[in-house]
Amino acid sequence: MQKPTSFLKKLNYSWKRSQLPSRRPIQISRIDKLIIFLICVVISIVSSYKILLFPTPKGLDVFSWFLTFVEVLFTCGFLILISRKENPNINSRQILLIISLLLIVQMIKNISGSGLSPLSLVIPPALIISQGMGTITALAWVSIASLSWPDSITNINSNLLVITLICAGVVSVLGGRIRSRAQLLQLSIFVPIGALISQWVLIGKEEYPLVDNQEFLTSSDKFFSDSLLLAIIMLITILFIPIFESIFGLLTKARLLELADKEKPLIRRLSIEAPGTFEHTLLICGLAEEATRMIGGDIDLIKTGSLYHDVGKLHAPNWFIENQDGSRNPHDEIDDPLKSAEVLQAHVDEGLKFARKNRLPKPIANFIPEHQGTLKMGYFLNKAEEKKLMFNESDFRYKGPIPQSKETAILMLADGCEAALRAMDINASDYEALETISKIVNSRQVDGQLSDSDLSKGEIFLIKKSFLNVWKRIRHRRIQYPTTKNNTFS
Ligand SMILES: [Fe+2]
Ligand SMILES: [Fe+2]
Repeated sequence: MQKPTSFLKKLNYSWKRSQLPSRRPIQISRIDKLIIFLICVVISIVSSYKILLFPTPKGLDVFSWFLTFVEVLFTCGFLILISRKENPNINSRQILLIISLLLIVQMIKNISGSGLSPLSLVIPPALIISQGMGTITALAWVSIASLSWPDSITNINSNLLVITLICAGVVSVLGGRIRSRAQLLQLSIFVPIGALISQWVLIGKEEYPLVDNQEFLTSSDKFFSDSLLLAIIMLITILFIPIFESIFGLLTKARLLELADKEKPLIRRLSIEAPGTFEHTLLICGLAEEATRMIGGDIDLIKTGSLYHDVGKLHAPNWFIENQDGSRNPHDEIDDPLKSAEVLQAHVDEGLKFARKNRLPKPIANFIPEHQGTLKMGYFLNKAEEKKLMFNESDFRYKGPIPQSKETAILMLADGCEAALRAMDINASDYEALETISKIVNSRQVDGQLSDSDLSKGEIFLIKKSFLNVWKRIRHRRIQYPTTKNNTFS
């Protein structure tokens, strides 16, 4: 029977693990923190100052102003916390975008009073946030923007607020999942139509009975113009989303799919100048995609990240075994394991330079160093030992960092297994294939490469199974590549 102490230890470990974010948020500089805090203070002032504008503010009014001020300040803080929890990669520019949108909306509410429909105020920013920062952040933003009104909300029909909350909720949920600009266009048509029908049903019938034709027609005009305005603002927002993507570094699903286009210049260059690396990349995409689907990760992210993980090999394609035709190996010519290790590390450093030059978003660029982590360059380390050279073990390790997310960890495992699976005998049994996969995965686990990735034991098992499934699928149509003893480095 399990000892109570070890059970308590396990429980404590699981609790601590569940409290940690899946990835440590990136640091924000002090000056950015100060700017963000000041904007939050301005939002709180804008949202609450009208309470003090009564002719003679009494003690109770000052107290209720203070309460509103603190409440809005805290909700802004929660919004930032939620956005950082959902997107550990979020940077200060993106946080500034979220709170600036809130500030703009609160200011427009002050200026227009109840003249402008809350639909047009809340829904378009929710679309931008859900696309760039995810559903949960968008829902948090929507709840603050829909419930915090500088004026008394009695000026606004409560049914209209409910309709706004529901429509903005739908946009937040769907916006986080939408994968193409065409679907975004559909959303910008169907949501205003839904809002129009809901307004007729929930507000029109209540305030302007059908029997009073004149009143009903006037109200229909208002509902129609509100929904039309919403549709126009949503369409303009969709047009501006690519600009937001480049200014604020947002990574929308549509942007991910655009980057995954194999006709992109960098990927075309890879296919022409380093065809072996390109083939290796395609096979890895298959392995990584299947494994990510199995554990419920971000498939679009890993598909695009895999495509760019080895672009750094473009700096010297023929130094990598998959691009050699078997006749000449520059590593043999220089016969210097330390120099060879530098060339291998350079494929990471140069890859990051390519990422910067091609303005690849940070979550995609992260795949470049993290797929190698701090792995040992075993082949050249052995050579250095054979030659009895003086060296540190760190000279033959990649500089890292080790994978910081499940997706980059999967890519590291796929990268390790690809060469071995490609070289495997066509008649090998499933058991032998699984054995090979397990050996590679376990070696990375023991080396501590998966420590920061948050992959559980169950997920690692599923990843191994999915690699096996892909291998079973491709073994019948597999191309035999010439393999040499050097094929262990990548
Ligand atoms: Fe690599
Ligand atoms: Fe690779």
